[in-house]
Amino acid sequence: MESVQAIKQRFGIIGNSDTLNRAIEKAIQVAPTDISVLVTGESGVGKESIPKIIHQLSHRKHNKYIAVNCGAIPEGTIDSELFGHEKGSFTGATQTREGYFEVADGGTIFLDEVGELPLTTQVRLLRVLENGEFLKVGSSKVQKTNVRIVAATNANMFQSIEKGTFREDLYYRLSTVDIHLPPLRERQEDIHLLFRKFASDFALKYKMPTVKLSDAAVQVLLKHRWSGNIRQLRNIAEQISVLEHNRTISAEALKAYLPTSGSNLPAVIKTSKSESDFSSEREILYKVLFDMKSDLNDLKKLTLELMKNGNTKDVEKNNESLIQKIYGNNDEEDYEEALEEDVLSIPEQTALTPEISNKPDKYHFAEEIEEEETLSLHDKELELIKKSLERHDGKRKLAAAELGISERTLYRKIKQYDL
Ligand SMILES: Nc1ncnc2c1ncn2[C@@H]1O[C@H](COP(=O)(O)OP(=O)(O)O)[C@@H](O)[C@H]1O
Ligand SMILES: [Mg+2]
Repeated sequence: MESVQAIKQRFGIIGNSDTLNRAIEKAIQVAPTDISVLVTGESGVGKESIPKIIHQLSHRKHNKYIAVNCGAIPEGTIDSELFGHEKGSFTGATQTREGYFEVADGGTIFLDEVGELPLTTQVRLLRVLENGEFLKVGSSKVQKTNVRIVAATNANMFQSIEKGTFREDLYYRLSTVDIHLPPLRERQEDIHLLFRKFASDFALKYKMPTVKLSDAAVQVLLKHRWSGNIRQLRNIAEQISVLEHNRTISAEALKAYLPTSGSNLPAVIKTSKSESDFSSEREILYKVLFDMKSDLNDLKKLTLELMKNGNTKDVEKNNESLIQKIYGNNDEEDYEEALEEDVLSIPEQTALTPEISNKPDKYHFAEEIEEEETLSLHDKELELIKKSLERHDGKRKLAAAELGISERTLYRKIKQYDL
């Protein structure tokens, strides 16, 4: 069996932290088997090397390895991409097409961002995992394939299961073995090492002397939050290598490249959206508005429930998922706290109810305003999407990245607005 060090060298993996070594060791151990593996970790931590290691060290290495980014394929075509389709099965299907599961027979498929798979595709995937069977889209002929699946996700799958967007049975089937890659900030000893490696690579690439960090700059580097992990570190090393005249980098010079929201302070912006790049503050505000609007509607629903039904325990029980959505479902304690502070301490409804039930018109008025607001927000969203698509010559991938949404969500919106 190849050693962890040898594998790191072969696959260009830098780092020496225990957690990284353990993840690689796990990959080496499971490689010769056909066990399904789920690779988890934030965006940019290096998940993509794991399925490559597994494939190369397996008896499948002479067959195909196909990496599929499930989040980037529109919902309407993903079944056909994965499982193929019959000629004439939908408009535009002029030829019978083989899907990845047919092409990769005997090999490995890496399903990146597997949490983004639509539920219908999840059903097909479960079947293929359970007995190797699948149907082409538009066909009733059962086909067999022998594919090893390695999946990856940066999403909290338990939340997705809770929300009903991911099948629990599929999750357990995919994650027979879980390989977790920790965020860069938890691999302190690797941060400077990685920077030096990237700086040396970029010096070679751009034929310039290698940049070096001052001691104070190293401290800044270590304290940074690195919400984009190794991808972000590599990107910053590249910018500095190209742009800085003085090849010894001071703490101040380094700080100029680091986003201010990325310090060790609690992050203001959700990490999953950190890659979006809004070109104006106005657009960011609209985005915040959409999110707030949705929260507000949920809260209105909940308040109405509370006013109608005096029993807060019942309301709490009947609206569990709504409450979780508003107060976040990743932290039980926060949720409990928020609930106690904000919802349950609403003054008893006795004073409010008579006033409202005496003036039903007030309610009507509120409903109308809500509709109008929603409409104009939709206009703004439409405008935002249009402009972003224009800026990127209709390239959905770039527009989605700019808007901070998945390509599939953008595709759905384009359809919704008939763009
Ligand atoms: N340990 C590492 N050593 C060197 N480069 C790495 C390492 N981990 C990740 N990278 C680089 O960082 C970038 C992001 O890695 P990737 O596997 O795409 O992350 P993820 O799939 O987790 O978002 C890639 O350019 C990759 O080569
Ligand atoms: Mg990736």
